[in-house]
Amino acid sequence: MSYENILVETQDKVGLIRLNRPKALNALSDALMSELGEALLAFDGDPDIGCIIITGSEKAFAAGADIVGMAGYSYMDVFKGEFITRNWETIRRVRKPVIAAVAGFALGGGCELAMMCDFIIAADTARFGQPEIKLGIVPGAGGTQRLPRAVSKAKAMEMALTGRMMDAEEAERAGLVSRVVAADRLMDEALAAARTITEMSQPVAMMVKDSINRAYESTLSDGMKYERALFYSCFATEDQKEGMKAFIEKRSPVFKNS
Ligand code: CAA
Repeated sequence: MSYENILVETQDKVGLIRLNRPKALNALSDALMSELGEALLAFDGDPDIGCIIITGSEKAFAAGADIVGMAGYSYMDVFKGEFITRNWETIRRVRKPVIAAVAGFALGGGCELAMMCDFIIAADTARFGQPEIKLGIVPGAGGTQRLPRAVSKAKAMEMALTGRMMDAEEAERAGLVSRVVAADRLMDEALAAARTITEMSQPVAMMVKDSINRAYESTLSDGMKYERALFYSCFATEDQKEGMKAFIEKRSPVFKNS
């Protein structure tokens, strides 16, 4: 499959997607988001892939939705065309873990895309923001919903109301990113994390992702019930037998994803 707006490769069992519209700082055009969705679903359906990384360039993960593309849209264009929801939600259908490796700007839809991933590893050059208010719009891909859950109401309000950017250090302190690494180590660190995940039982990794995401959609007691059902179901897998046997035999487990 060849794409015009993204670069796709595999490294061992990791699927790597690089957003690639350098002249527009990886602005997330409709075409780019469609290609991203296709590539994500292709990796998700590939049994040889255990984890996916989305990254951008040194200067920008993505500077947001494509302002040039949407500047002339009418209400009916966005309403009837299901703008944003149509192809931005595809990532939510991906069951395998997805890591965002972010350097440079992650603004507007870029910050929202990073937050749709399962966790963010940030270069020390990363800058996050929801500056849509400066364009006369509200964030449209989860900025007002995921950001307060990630960094607190106070920070989300300030960022979305003033357009202030958060640097990598503040983003880590606030809980938006799992950790910050030197910019020249970003891909090595993201790949190392992804490779670690691919060594686990793939179905169990998918269950972990599913269960943690459930925490955002349910009450604590419903979430606990959901987790318990998944926990019990692990005992029906060969991978649970192998994982515990390997521990007792003091060796590394060899999971068969079954
Ligand atoms: N859409 C389209 N083009 C964009 C873009 C975007 N979101 N962001 C940057 N570009 C383009 C610029 O127009 C410029 O193109 P030209 O060279 O043809 O003029 C090129 O990328 C380089 O950008 P700058 O010259 O502006 O670079 P800079 O280093 O001076 O500034 C920046 C970088 C601070 C990121 C600045 O480009 C910027 O503020 N970009 C817009 C950020 C933004 O408002 N994002 C939110 C978009 S709306 C949204 O995302 C809605 C949603 O919730 C889904």
